[in-house]
Amino acid sequence: MDDTARSVWLATTTMPRYEPASGDLTADVVVIGAGLVGLSTALMLADDGADVIVLEAHGVGARTSGHTTGKVTSQHGAIYTELVHRHGRNKAALYAAANEAAMLQITSLVEALAIECELTTAPSYAYSTDPGRLDSLKREVATAADLGLAATLAGQNEVGVPGAAAGVRFSEQLYLHPAKYLVGLAAAFEERGGRIYDRTRVVDVDSTSDEVVVRTEAGATVTAGHAVMATLSPLGVTGGFFARVRPRRSSGIAVRLPVPAPAGMAITVDDPVRSTRPWPGGGPNGLIVVGSGPATTSPGDADSNAQADTGANEEALLNWVRSTWDTGPITAEYSWSAHDYSTPDLLPYVGSVPGSDRVLVATGLNKWGLTQGTIAAEILSDQIAGHANPYVDLYSSTRIGGPAAVAELIKGNLSVGKDFATGHAKRLTGGADHLEPGDGGLLDHEGATVGAYRDASGELHLVKPVCTHLGCALTWNRADTTWDCSCHGSRFTPDGGVLDGPATKPLQRPE
Ligand SMILES: Cc1cc2nc3c(=O)[nH]c(=O)nc-3n(C[C@H](O)[C@H](O)[C@H](O)COP(=O)(O)OP(=O)(O)OC[C@H]3O[C@@H](n4cnc5c(N)ncnc54)[C@H](O)[C@@H]3O)c2cc1C
Ligand code: FES
Repeated sequence: MDDTARSVWLATTTMPRYEPASGDLTADVVVIGAGLVGLSTALMLADDGADVIVLEAHGVGARTSGHTTGKVTSQHGAIYTELVHRHGRNKAALYAAANEAAMLQITSLVEALAIECELTTAPSYAYSTDPGRLDSLKREVATAADLGLAATLAGQNEVGVPGAAAGVRFSEQLYLHPAKYLVGLAAAFEERGGRIYDRTRVVDVDSTSDEVVVRTEAGATVTAGHAVMATLSPLGVTGGFFARVRPRRSSGIAVRLPVPAPAGMAITVDDPVRSTRPWPGGGPNGLIVVGSGPATTSPGDADSNAQADTGANEEALLNWVRSTWDTGPITAEYSWSAHDYSTPDLLPYVGSVPGSDRVLVATGLNKWGLTQGTIAAEILSDQIAGHANPYVDLYSSTRIGGPAAVAELIKGNLSVGKDFATGHAKRLTGGADHLEPGDGGLLDHEGATVGAYRDASGELHLVKPVCTHLGCALTWNRADTTWDCSCHGSRFTPDGGVLDGPATKPLQRPE
């Protein structure tokens, strides 16, 4: 099983299916990716009268947007003290206003389109179990309140998670069922004449001063005025963004506690992060818990948890639930993992690619893409339609540098894989004959390291375990049955198909 079917959200929703794209198509705008950013952007453009095509490699919401915690909030951990410190009060206030506006935007979309996605208002707490952090929590309350947010200090009982010492409370925040929300966006887009094609992987985007031509793996083309890469990470080396953003992987579980679950949402400011929210599908005791595990040593980035052992992460979340609620034996009804990208200055990159006004991107949503992705969609659709938008400068994609700086950035990173291709983790002993059905890993095979996977029917699949993006070594992710690249977050199916970019080409077969 690959990782697409494990999310509680996708498992409890009938997702729409479409035809793959074929032939030569034209549109005003082609949006690549049917996650939250792609569908929100497509809908906003269609609302404005544009003829829009969405091309999706998998299915609607199949990747990160279908694997979120589903919090719709302007509380992104205890971020505001840090934002003021790095960017000054005005920019931090704009960030707060943008995310508050996105919450309103999502609420009005849900109401106007009558999307049944369990949208619920609840407080959100950023808390610590360490009484020694009280002063920094108080500072965050004062900073957030100064920026116009409804922040107050919450005592240990109010947070609702056993062991909490104190927290920052944001009132009137939201959570929803992300897959149902995306189904609603897709339906509304289609009602406005929008076209969606799934199982359609884009492999090339070519822009001139007049138009953009997008090519798919199966040979279809879309010629349009603009292309939006709503692909989590821009494809290939587009704009050099891959070199600035970092993949961050988290796991999630859905459990039923033996007691009623806390009514509010909560997130620790401690390490490792634990994020909780009610799980309505699990009844009054239902709880969603999301968090990252300890980072594994990775060849491309010692600080990255892109290739963290997701099975171990999921077990760690379960252990946290057991010890926090003193539950005794308890199992996860659903468990999954996914990644998003973070940026060094905590702000997403949204807008046109340096050197081409016709290709636009949104990346680095820092794991808060339900609000940030909605803001991104507004910025992108406004830019294409020629409307002013108050958040363009704050989230500017051009702060990565001009075309010349980007060319240098790309050139400087082209050798990244060469340095790490030899950094493979340990091989399985015993050779392919010892691989059980459903298991995989690295093997020494005829003098070379190969990636091996034996499927449920017993057939052996061999791949060259070298990422087709820039050549980093891949590791086997047992829980998700995927080949993962820690350098920039590409992921592949057991037989080498691309699951997540920036890579666009499948893995090679061993020579
Ligand atoms: C575990 C976890 C929990 C999170 N919880 C929250 C939360 O509670 N609140 C919050 O605000 N944010 C949360 N986030 C962040 C949020 O989920 C993401 O920022 C957001 O979903 C990103 O949306 P997207 O549309 O950019 O990406 P995606 O949903 O990944 O969509 C990109 C789409 O592009 C498609 N695609 C990629 N390459 C190609 C190609 N070559 N051709 C065609 N299609 C392609 C993919 O198949 C995919 O469907 C969480 C993230 C994680 C990992
Ligand atoms: S080398 Fe860039 S994602 Fe693998």
